[in-house]
Amino acid sequence: MAPTSTTSIEQQVSDIVSEVNRTDWSRQYWEQGEFLAQGQLMPKALIEEFMQEVNGVRPKINRNFIPKHKKGGSVSYYLLQESAPALLAFYQHQAWINLLSQIAGVPLLLCPDEDPHACALYFYTEPGDHIGFHYDTSYYKGARYTVLIGLRDQSSSQLLCRLHTKESGRKVQELSLATEPGTFLFFNGDKLHHAVSPIAEGEERIVLTLQYVTDPSMSFAHRWFSNIKDAVGYFGWSALFRRPTR
Ligand SMILES: [Fe+2]
Repeated sequence: MAPTSTTSIEQQVSDIVSEVNRTDWSRQYWEQGEFLAQGQLMPKALIEEFMQEVNGVRPKINRNFIPKHKKGGSVSYYLLQESAPALLAFYQHQAWINLLSQIAGVPLLLCPDEDPHACALYFYTEPGDHIGFHYDTSYYKGARYTVLIGLRDQSSSQLLCRLHTKESGRKVQELSLATEPGTFLFFNGDKLHHAVSPIAEGEERIVLTLQYVTDPSMSFAHRWFSNIKDAVGYFGWSALFRRPTR
């Protein structure tokens, strides 16, 4: 297996960014209440490079279970920093961040090093893995934006979205989307009500999540609450005591 070249990753992401119709994306994003979905944005070869790193961290998946809300596996930003240079190069790619900033209409920044969600993987690999309806609530002083990239989807699971839930006088629109490899989704975490339907026996769904913020500061109380939520719901208690390496 050839080593992953972050230079190559950077060029591939630059090529993707250069081909985007920004006017069209911005229009869709705002028409859908700060939500955008694009199928097959990422080339197959790039997804395959990402999957090499994903397969390398499979032994480190933290399984989590919250009755009646979620069940699945996660790998945190801390662990990806140790062994996933291509995924990190993508997360930190400045032209990519500039594109997202232009769509969102605000300058976006990386999450601070101590946020295990900053760049992370979600694994739906066991029957019934799912997550119930929720917002990606921002505990930061600024807004929080989520990118989801489909990496592997051999499942009947769907990303269920409810648009416009916080816009008074506007009818809620429901969407059901498969996150096939290369699918790109981008949304304001406090605006999109969303869930993932359960996978069945023998199915598998893997998604990359990237988080960006407008202000990376957070009160002590919110950081404490966010850490507890992440430990229980996603990355395990060990992540609380793991120091970021970047
Ligand atoms: Fe979410």
